[in-house]
Formats: sequence, structure tokens, C-alpha cells
Amino acid sequence: MPSFTKTILITGGAGFIGSHVVRLFVTKYPDYRIVNLDALTYAGNLQNLTDIETAPNYVFEKVNLLDATELARVFTQYQPDSVIHLAAESHVDRSILSPLDFVYTNVVGTVNLLNVAKTQWSQKTLRQAQGDNPFDNKLFYHVSTDEVYGALGETGLFTEETPYDPHSPYSASKASSDHFVRAYGDTYGLPVVITNCSNNYGPYHFPEKLIPLFINNIITKKPLPVYGDGQYTRDWLFVKDHAIAIDLVFHKGKKGSTYNIGGFNEWKNIDLVKELCRQMDEKLENPVGTSEALITYVKDRPGHDRRYAIDAGKINKELGWEPSVTFEEGLGQTIDWFLSNEEWLKGVTSGAYQHYYEEQYAER
Ligand code: NAD
Ligand code: DAU
Repeated sequence: MPSFTKTILITGGAGFIGSHVVRLFVTKYPDYRIVNLDALTYAGNLQNLTDIETAPNYVFEKVNLLDATELARVFTQYQPDSVIHLAAESHVDRSILSPLDFVYTNVVGTVNLLNVAKTQWSQKTLRQAQGDNPFDNKLFYHVSTDEVYGALGETGLFTEETPYDPHSPYSASKASSDHFVRAYGDTYGLPVVITNCSNNYGPYHFPEKLIPLFINNIITKKPLPVYGDGQYTRDWLFVKDHAIAIDLVFHKGKKGSTYNIGGFNEWKNIDLVKELCRQMDEKLENPVGTSEALITYVKDRPGHDRRYAIDAGKINKELGWEPSVTFEEGLGQTIDWFLSNEEWLKGVTSGAYQHYYEEQYAER
């Protein structure tokens, strides 16, 4: 049995961003043990991690955040020093249809996890070993969203000081979980850090979100449903750059702090969709304009935030982070990945991926 210098519990590691974070930590830090805890909801897919699933420093635990007993069992069994918490319901449209699912996982699930961390890290045995502060060398890192800040007009940027003003059930649930994380820091002294990031895109993105949905619809020649007037603005960041930022904040971020993470890369939805159509036509060798002809304006999302834009100056100045790829490169790599992984896309859209756990893990 190898000995590890650290054990990190990563929640939501079978999801889009979580799988990139798990892969980065498992491969970059062979001396860390990475425990991936995930309930495998519709968005969790262990096929996102086939390349590292047999690594000696990787463990998977199929556990729901709502099951406090199982969370405690995982903590007792692996004794993690740190938590990187990504598990969440993440899709705004689903939150409009089913807000309570977001309250359960994002709010109650996060508080369950905070409770288990606080309780287990302050156990008597740890106190004896570590003196007065049982939280020494511990960290609870919450991965959150820029949507907690609400919506911007034509100008301005979200900073870490921007007051919270969430509008969708999703962003309200993430804002609430951020507040609980800070409350556990302030009330119990739990060492916490929060990052609020803008829209990610890249490989393994679930095809319900704008970019992967539209890539899939172009491949399958279906309409591209642009909400409202298409003038809504988002800041886009390549997912691997988000994972690199999480690694930096995890190791060097100031405890008790918040860092905004963004791509310095604002796009109006319609402009982004047209750029995506252009690149897809080029790669598929379609006549110019083939994919754009699929654009269909549809009814707007209720409560749709007009514009998000991030000031990522703090993480840049304090930790030296900046995106490593341009949007054109990142989008190109993303499209190439989806085009060479059509089986993954078919499996995800048909639901076939959900049997992978039973096939690969049940007997282990
Ligand atoms: P995702 O939906 O792709 O993955 C979420 C993962 O959490 C899935 O693997 C799912 O199985 C797991 N999960 C859901 N409910 C669970 C529960 N009750 N117990 C255990 N596991 C559960 O999400 P994502 O896009 O990778 O986002 C990850 C995190 O990053 C979320 O907290 C999200 O709010 C945040 N975030 C996302 C973006 C983005 O653009 N996608 C941007 C900023 C922040
Ligand atoms: O800002 C960070 C957030 O980005 C994350 O916290 C969320 O988890 C993530 O889902 C994402 O939220 P958005 O709502 O911004 O992402 P989505 O891809 O759903 O939509 C992006 C924009 O595109 C938004 O203005 C709505 C619009 N849209 C989306 C879909 C799915 C369309 O016009 N048509 C669509 O079919």
C-alpha cells in the first residue's frame, strides 16, 4: 500500500469540471490520494475518467451528498485533509423546472459536507495530535459561480466585493451554499476558500449547455435554439484553465478568501454561436453558412441575466494565474474533441453511459 502525503476528497469528480480537476490532481500529484465522491446523477459520467481510473492514487466512491451517514463513513475511511467541493446541480434551465433539487443538493448537500468536515476534523484524537487547532493543514474549498453576483448592464465587471444578487433558483442555491461555507469559516474557524468562476467550456461538457448542445445539434443537423434576442453576454473560460486555477488556489490561496476566475473573454451569445458555426463548417467541410442556417430564435429563458463579466485581477496579481489558451484555440480544441469522441456524445445523449458504474465498479 503506497503512502500518501495528502488525501483530498473531490466531490462531483464525475461531472464536467470535476473530471478535469480529478485528472489534473491524480496525474500531477502521484503522492496525493484523490477520493472522487459523486452520486452519478444524469450529469455524472465515469467514462469521463477512464484514462485515470486505475491509477494507484485514485479512488471512486458513489455517494450522495444528502446521505450524511455515508459522507461520515467516507471521511472516517479515508481521513481527507482537504475537500474540493464541486458536486452540484449545475444547469440553470433545470433549476427553473425543478428548484427543490437545487436546494437539496447545492444547499443541504453542501451543509452536510461542511458538518462532516467540521465534526471529523475537530475529533478528540486530532485535537490531541494537533494541539489547540484541529483545523491546521485542513481546507474546505468551494467551487462556485459568477452567477451569484446577478446581472450587469452594458459595462462593469464583477469583483470579489460585488454584492450577491442571484436571480435564478440555481444561482440562489449557489449563493446560499457560498454563505454557508463562509458562515462555517466565521463561526467555527473552518479554513475555507471560495472561487467564483465564469462559463466553462471544453471536453466532456454535458450537451445540455450552450456550446456542447449546439455542437451536437450541428452534427445531427438539428435547430440551434438561441434564447430571446441572442444579445445576452457571457465570459467563457476553457475548462482546463479553470482546473489549473483551482490547483493554484488550493495550494497558494489565502484561507478565508474569495477569488474570481474568468477568461477575459466576453461574447454575446449570437456572436459566439456564429463563430461556432463557422468553425464547425470549416472542420466538417460544409459549404459556408450551412450551420448558421440552423439558428432558430426561441422563447427567452425566464429571469435571464443579461450580462456576466469577471474581473479576475485578484487571482492574477496574487497568484499569477491567467488563461493559457485563447478562445479561438480553446473552442477549436473543444470541437476537435467532440468530433473525435462521437461515441461519448452518443452514449451521453442516449443515456447508455449510466451503466458504466455497474459494469466497471460494482465488483471491485
Ligand atoms: P456538472 O453538472 O457537469 O457535474 C456535477 C457533478 O455533481 C456530477 O458528476 C453529478 O453526478 C454530481 N452530483 C450532483 N448532485 C450530487 C449529489 N447530491 N451528491 C453527489 N454528487 C452529486 O457540473 P459542472 O459544470 O462540472 O460544475 C461543477 C461545479 O462548478 C458546480 O458546483 C458548479 O456550480 C460550478 N461551476 C460551473 C461552471 C460551468 O460553467 N459549468 C462555472 C462556474 C462554476
Ligand atoms: O456563469 C457560470 C455558469 O455558466 C455556471 O455556474 C453554470 O453551472 C453553467 O451552466 C453556466 O450557466 P449559463 O446559464 O450561463 O450556461 P448555459 O450554457 O445554459 O447558457 C449560456 C447562455 O446561452 C445563456 O445566456 C443562455 C443561452 N442559451 C443556452 C442554451 C442551453 C441559449 O440561447 N440556448 C440554449 O439552448
